[in-house]
Amino acid sequence: MGQLEGKVAIITGSAQGQGAMEARLFAEQGARLVLTDIAPGGEALAEEIGAQAIFLRHDVADAMAWQHVIDAAMERYGRIDVLVNNAGVYKPASLQDTGAALLDYHYRVNQLGVFLGMKAVIEPMAAVGGGSIVNISSQAALGGVPGVFAYSATKWAVRGMTKSAALDLARYGIRVNSVHPGGIDTPMIAANSAEAMEGFKAMIPLGRLGTPEEVGRVVLFLASSASSYVTGAEIAVAGGFGI
Ligand SMILES: NC(=O)c1ccc[n+]([C@@H]2O[C@H](COP(=O)([O-])OP(=O)(O)OC[C@H]3O[C@@H](n4cnc5c(N)ncnc54)[C@H](O)[C@@H]3O)[C@@H](O)[C@H]2O)c1
Repeated sequence: MGQLEGKVAIITGSAQGQGAMEARLFAEQGARLVLTDIAPGGEALAEEIGAQAIFLRHDVADAMAWQHVIDAAMERYGRIDVLVNNAGVYKPASLQDTGAALLDYHYRVNQLGVFLGMKAVIEPMAAVGGGSIVNISSQAALGGVPGVFAYSATKWAVRGMTKSAALDLARYGIRVNSVHPGGIDTPMIAANSAEAMEGFKAMIPLGRLGTPEEVGRVVLFLASSASSYVTGAEIAVAGGFGI
């Protein structure tokens, strides 16, 4: 029996990278899936997974679009047990080089998107006696990191929202935890210069980037009943960077 047998999970930003890996791991464990992304590409993944997955184009910063995702999940599967708020954007810049537009760009996806997602699933999760929300933050929200001001600020907000939500939603049996990846080998890190990446890798105690699967296994643990007494926790998946 799979760890997510009978469960329905929504994974945002799952057309590629970590979200796509989480979709595969969750499907292997028996979950039925609603995969969403603002970009195309998730259709092929949903097709590969088969009848237990659908893909929807979805901007996480759009409240109406969230309603569409919830309606589609309920119509197709009749319940929602897990939400992985995985969608994120990353454009590295120092405070000096960050304007209001760049801050707002990160805010809308990384912070507002997570807020809207958590709000949207409260009612359907409460209706089935609880659920699990996993918010993907970053190692850049466990300490200070130079040159990534807006990204770091919005990922710190995710860390804070996770703790507040864990307390507010405990009465419904909804657990809320955050995952803090370090450098993970996905298309997102292409935004860094080669020089910055070499310097970064040299500072990782385990000496290498992480893989999407290494993050996905932690997300799977938090999504499943293996973590039934874990809420408000933050788990770094960062090869020891920043400890
Ligand atoms: N890769 C890393 O090193 C790293 C480190 C720390 C945290 N993270 C976080 O992990 C999560 C997954 O990132 P990844 O590494 O797989 O990167 P990625 O760029 O491969 O994937 C991010 C996905 O989010 C989607 N997305 C962007 N804006 C969206 C929107 N408005 N609505 C819906 N989807 C949207 C993108 O289309 C993309 O498919 C992100 O939250 C990211 O911030 C990544």
